[in-house]
Amino acid sequence: MAQQHEHATPPQDPRAFWEARYGGDQVWSGKVNAALAALAEGLPPGRALDLGCGEGGDVIHLAEVGWDATGVDLAEAAVARARRAAQERGVAERTRFVAADLSDTASGWGPPDDAAAPGFDLVAASFLQSPVALDRERILRHALTLLAPGGRLVLVSHAAPPPWAPAEFAARGHFPSPTDELAMLGVPASGDGTWDVEVAEERTREVTGPDGQPGALEDAVVVVRRR
Ligand SMILES: C[S@@+](CC[C@H](N)C(=O)[O-])C[C@H]1O[C@@H](n2cnc3c(N)ncnc32)[C@H](O)[C@@H]1O
Repeated sequence: MAQQHEHATPPQDPRAFWEARYGGDQVWSGKVNAALAALAEGLPPGRALDLGCGEGGDVIHLAEVGWDATGVDLAEAAVARARRAAQERGVAERTRFVAADLSDTASGWGPPDDAAAPGFDLVAASFLQSPVALDRERILRHALTLLAPGGRLVLVSHAAPPPWAPAEFAARGHFPSPTDELAMLGVPASGDGTWDVEVAEERTREVTGPDGQPGALEDAVVVVRRR
């Protein structure tokens, strides 16, 4: 009998997948994610880091409202586009974009070498989710260590696949609830001596799908603050 193979097709290399995704036209809207914008509105600007920044919409918005903001993404093509957009919107000086694999936590995507600055005031990860391999738990647990006292980690994630997503995409993805997110971070829902949980909720967004169809997206929004 022929040997059974676990994978009918070999697993795809994440860098190749995301470079291909950004290889054509602009992928995202260029606008800030609404949950992040709302949170930032109530905070004094400081130093921010955006994980999986894509084409830079969140980083650029944070810079426009006064933050020093760094974005990291695996795809060189995304980072190049983000740099161009920051230039066009006049915030190149307050933004920094780094092409790096966040799984490589020793590769220097952490705080700049500045002994006077203890870490980031805001670390954001908007839809840091992937249909190919992504060591999200390790990355986000490492992100917690990069926060300055009083700093916040903000996760905005798809809690369910978009209604128009192909069944294959829905089956491959992981769509966490806010409770899943906190468990993944190792932060108790009621907080502890190190962490306050400021937000852990599902939010619904009414959107227009790729073919003009109306639909609702479910986001898991989590904000934890280092005491
Ligand atoms: C769904 S997109 C979200 C992009 C952006 N945050 C937004 O909200 O528009 C996920 C992003 O994570 C990036 N990514 C995936 N795996 C990564 C890794 N290991 N290191 C760095 N970035 C990664 C992808 O290149 C992609 O830009």
